Amino acid sequence: MARVADVLDRWAADFGFSERRTIAWRAAGHLHDALRDAPPPELAMRFPRTASLPGRARHGPAAAILLRREGLDDAELLRAVRWHTLGSRKFGLLGKALYAADFLEPGRPARSRWRAELRARVPAEIDLVLAEIAASRIDYLLRAGRPLQPRTIRFWNSLVAG
Ligand SMILES: [Fe+2]
Repeated sequence: MARVADVLDRWAADFGFSERRTIAWRAAGHLHDALRDAPPPELAMRFPRTASLPGRARHGPAAAILLRREGLDDAELLRAVRWHTLGSRKFGLLGKALYAADFLEPGRPARSRWRAELRARVPAEIDLVLAEIAASRIDYLLRAGRPLQPRTIRFWNSLVAG
């Protein structure tokens, strides 16, 4: 999570954001996986609205519910945390950046040069980078014979439409 926050911090600086906005971006990095290690059945029990999602995709919505209960009301940040696993066609810039940073953070060993190239391209062409990431993740799911979530398909379509 610290590595994801560092990637977001770097991009926030590249975008020339205010300190306040940069803090929100760092917070998204630090908080998005707060419940990642909770067993999915437990998440479904504690946060019934997540029960219809695949187990691997419950921790984002659960964390967003928790953050909202704690008083966080930044809709863009909450959406970013909620859908960082599945993607969302309604992502703001932060949602896009978190989805990208989660996939591109330098601690992931596989294809590290490719990831570094994509990281460097983000401020200038984030939508193109997102399409590459989404294609890679969808390709993985297809090859593994796993189902695609409708939300992920809508996210993909939003990236390539027009
Ligand atoms: Fe996650």
